[in-house]
Amino acid sequence: MSLAERLRHETRALHEETEQLLYTEPLRSGTLAPEQYTHLMQIHGLFHHALETAIDRHPVFFEGYQPDERRKSAWLATDLAALDASLPDLRPDLFADWSPVELLGAAYVGEGSMLGGKVVFHHLQKSPALQPLLQNARFYRGYGPGMMDKWKAFGVLLAARPEAEHDTVVEAAKWTFRTYQKLFRLTLTEKPAVG
Ligand code: HEM
Repeated sequence: MSLAERLRHETRALHEETEQLLYTEPLRSGTLAPEQYTHLMQIHGLFHHALETAIDRHPVFFEGYQPDERRKSAWLATDLAALDASLPDLRPDLFADWSPVELLGAAYVGEGSMLGGKVVFHHLQKSPALQPLLQNARFYRGYGPGMMDKWKAFGVLLAARPEAEHDTVVEAAKWTFRTYQKLFRLTLTEKPAVG
């Protein structure tokens, strides 16, 4: 099985788990609240900031990845500013000790998450409370019509990795999904009970 196929199959359950955790129910039913949308932007913001910083430490390995064409943290900063919010103060160095091969697994999760972005943006627009906030939303517009080209180019990078590295990339991708789940819980601000 190719590395791309292994990644899709072996992280499918974690994708579903993460999707559920990240407000899929209110998202799909068009009832996502502005606070929940802001929370999502903060999670993605922390994740992409940390990933981009880590990838920048390995410019030679990631040359073909074209990091400058794939940056999302600036989009997220713009979206958060429009919400009058910012990145939570904690700026975890999530990938401090990760090797380039492991970071490729993390990049798979980051790039793959953009595939679902179109669907998510569609669901977000069903929520009346969010409509005024989405006019200039940038992150979920993602790569726009360039999405599939970007995904295919990423697939070429995966296909070039020797088989001896595949287990490492897959394990790293699994850890990355768990990292998303951890970020969700770390940044959750409990509202005081009403009444
Ligand atoms: C409600 C939220 C989400 C929805 C509705 C969603 C939906 C989707 C859809 C429809 C695809 C397949 C697109 C295609 O094959 O053309 C996809 C792929 C993917 N998504 Fe999500 N997603 C969500 C959240 C996430 C999150 C939060 C992450 C990362 C933490 C993520 C990571 C991925 C990855 C890695 C793939 C690529 C799977 C492959 O190898 O083909 N998704 N998503």
